[in-house]
Order: sequence, then C-alpha cells, then structure tokens
Amino acid sequence: MTDRLTPILTDSWDVPRAWTLPVYRDRGGYRALAKARGMSTEDLVNAVKGSGLRGRGGAGFPTGLKWSFLPAPDGGPRYLVVNADESEPGTCKDVPLMMANPHVLVEGVAITSHAIGCDHAFIYLRGEVVHVYRRLLAAVREAKEAGLLGSLEITVHAGAGAYICGEETALLDSLEGRRGQPRLKPPFPAVAGLYARPTVVNNVESIASVPGIVLGGGEWFSGMGTAKSTGHGIFSLSGHVTRPGQYEAPLGITLRELLELAGGIREGHELKFWTPGGSSTPILTAEHLDVPLDFEGVAGAGSMLGTRALQIFDETVSVVRAVARWIDFYKHESCGKCTPCREGTFWLQQIMHRLVAGKGTAEDIETLSDAAGNILGRSFCALGDAAATPIQSGLQYFREEFEAGTHTPADELFPPRASLIV
Ligand code: NAI
Ligand code: SF4
Repeated sequence: MTDRLTPILTDSWDVPRAWTLPVYRDRGGYRALAKARGMSTEDLVNAVKGSGLRGRGGAGFPTGLKWSFLPAPDGGPRYLVVNADESEPGTCKDVPLMMANPHVLVEGVAITSHAIGCDHAFIYLRGEVVHVYRRLLAAVREAKEAGLLGSLEITVHAGAGAYICGEETALLDSLEGRRGQPRLKPPFPAVAGLYARPTVVNNVESIASVPGIVLGGGEWFSGMGTAKSTGHGIFSLSGHVTRPGQYEAPLGITLRELLELAGGIREGHELKFWTPGGSSTPILTAEHLDVPLDFEGVAGAGSMLGTRALQIFDETVSVVRAVARWIDFYKHESCGKCTPCREGTFWLQQIMHRLVAGKGTAEDIETLSDAAGNILGRSFCALGDAAATPIQSGLQYFREEFEAGTHTPADELFPPRASLIV
C-alpha cells in the first residue's frame, strides 16, 4: 500500500537538519534553479503549463496559465507573492513543509521569479507561526549569502492572523499596509495586483512543486495523478484516525486508500463524516470512501477538493456541534465588508447555538437553510460561501440531528469527548 505514496515534497522531512542549505544541497537542492537559469522564460512557463500543475491552495486554477496571464513587460516592476497564510480549518500542509524544507520553497520562488521576470518576491505568512517565520528568514538569508538568489529580493512578511488575509486580494491589501479586505475581481492580480502592478499569487505547495517539475519535466509530473488533476499533493489527515499526519500521494487517491496508510479509523469506531478539503468544502460520508480525491472526482460527489485537509469524524461526533464550531469560526473571521456574510454568519451562529443547546424552535431548520442559501453565491468573496457550506451539506446528510436540536441538546445525544478534534 505504501507504494501509493509519492514522497517528493515530503521526502526529506525525517532527514536531520533538512532545513539547512548544506543538507538541502547535498540532496540535490538548487540544481533545478541552475537548470532554470539556462532556460528561456517561455520554456519555463511552458514546462509548468505542460505539467498540468493546478493551484494547491484549494481552487485548482492552472498555475502555468496564471503565469501566462501577466501582460508583456513594460519596464515597471512585477511581483511574485507566495500565499503562505494557511488558515483553512484542518489544513496543515504548508506549515510543516516550510518548517521541514524551506529551501524547496525558496528555490521555487527563485525559479518562478525568473520565469515571470520579477525582481522582488514576497512570502506572506500567517503571523502566529513565529517558528516558521524564523526558519524562512534563515533560509532566505542562507540562499542570499551563498549567492544563489542573484539580484532577487525575497521579503518574508508575517501577517496579523486574520483568516481573510488568505484571500489573495485581501492579502495584497494587507501587504500594502491596509486593512485586509477582498478587492473586486477583475482585475485579477495577474493584471493589477501588489501596488497595482502585475502580480502572480501562488500557494506554498504550488511554488514548492516547481523545482521538481523543472528537473523532472512536465511529463514526469503529469504522469502522476489523473488526466485533469495531475501530479502529487499533500493530504493532511486529522481527527479520529490511528495515525494522523501528512501523506503525499498522487491526486486521485481515495480516502479508503489513505485510511489504510493511516491505520484506519481509531479502534472500535467507524467513520461518520469527513471533509475533503477543510470546512469550506461540503462534508462527505462513509458512502464516499472510494471517491477519487482529485478536482473532478470530488466535484462529482457534490463537494470540492480544496486544500486536501481530510478531517475525519467517527460516530461519537455530533454533526450539529461540529458545524456550530465551524460557524463560530466563520462568524469571527468574516471581514464585514458585505451584508450577506456579515449579517448571515451572525444569524447562522445564533441558530446553531440554539440547536446545540437543544433549544431550537420549529422554524429554525428552515430559517437556517434559507439563511445559508441566501449567503451562498451572494457574498463578495469565497468566505461567505464557505460559511454556508457546512450547514447545507450537514442538512443534506444529517438533517435528523439538526431536527433533534429543537428538543434535545447535542451533549445528551453525543457527550463531549476529550479526544474530539474539530
Ligand atoms: P478562485 O477560483 O476565484 O481563484 C483561484 C485563482 O485563480 C486566483 O489566484 C485567481 O486570481 C485566479 N483566477 C481565476 N480566474 C482568473 C482569470 N479569469 N484570470 C486570471 N486569474 C484568474 O478562488 P479563490 O477565491 O482565490 O480561492 C478559493 C479557494 O481557496 C477555495 O477553493 C478554498 O479551498 C481555498 N482556501 C484555502 C485556504 C488555505 O488555508 N489554503 C483558506 C481558505 C480557502
Ligand atoms: Fe468579507 Fe465575508 Fe463579504 Fe468576504 S464574504 S468580503 S469575508 S464579509
């Protein structure tokens, strides 16, 4: 079964001091950068296009295509911004990647900057992970002092911990020193991004995949995964599994296969529900164990691949309590810019708390469904849709638990357990 794993980004995670430049170089690091410098920018963009790499931050937009959207050089600056603001509930792939192997990201930044003709790149990191911030600063300094970056400047910027700053245009506003709130799109950042200049915004894992593509070639990468969802990806398993953690595998692997690798659901229990890509993606159930975890396969099951944050819940967990916890999160993180999300998450939270306490009213289920339906598709950015998602999918599969919340507290139906991870 372990032959289903593709340890490429994760291959050095257990190697002592893998985060240092000498160890990274001993293992072949920065060879891809040397090769890339000998390639034309057009060939580099075509290699990434040919690999089929799709954005690993969740949305799956083709990376090479995004690079090719930059307008022709006009003599002014253009930027690369790495979105390292990983905050989606359950998502824990970029932080361990940057901790264990920061140089693969720095090398990817240098190659991408060369490909798009940028002199100044930024890595926007969530502020809470101070240890990662220090590690990135050290890696950038090591690479700079070793002369590997040439004239490229890399700025590592720590945000202040708002989930909305992971939305690419809110991130850009925050980087410019303003309050982080989403901008209207279009224009997309590729046309008018940081300081209104052409900007490529890519996720950490996307950029870290670039050195491998340059060395191995686009065909090597697209030989993994499925026809439309190529390559390898890090799947983060958390919750009620025997061995939670990050498993790097080709896209298209199934939860059944990943669970075999992770030792299955904890002993004596069974799978009840799970998220394919964090709480922003509709929940799935045990019926969906064989859904291929690629963009198309998960969409076919009525969900989204998202960040591949597989949160696994067994039969001891109340769906109503789990959804209420997620709604608390979205309500807290709503930036307040648009009414459906700002007001809607407030009402969702009120109703969910009533249902958890077993004090819901007869109308609450319909009001909840109606409020979620009015947030979805009417919000300014994806956060509003994300807040509606667990409600709608929760009601789809576990409506009776929501209905029970109109007369029985969740604590009576599902006593809280110390081991619950939501
Ligand atoms: P999106 O689909 O609007 O955009 C994806 C990317 O493609 C963006 O960089 C956008 O600029 C680019 N793009 C799309 N159409 C374009 C066009 N016509 N021209 C040029 N560029 C274009 O998705 P969005 O709102 O950026 O991200 C939503 C996703 O983020 C969700 O699927 C969710 O899974 C994920 N997410 C990830 C989090 C994390 O912690 N990694 C946190 C929250 C959400
Ligand atoms: Fe802000 Fe929510 Fe509107 Fe997004 S959907 S702009 S987070 S209020």
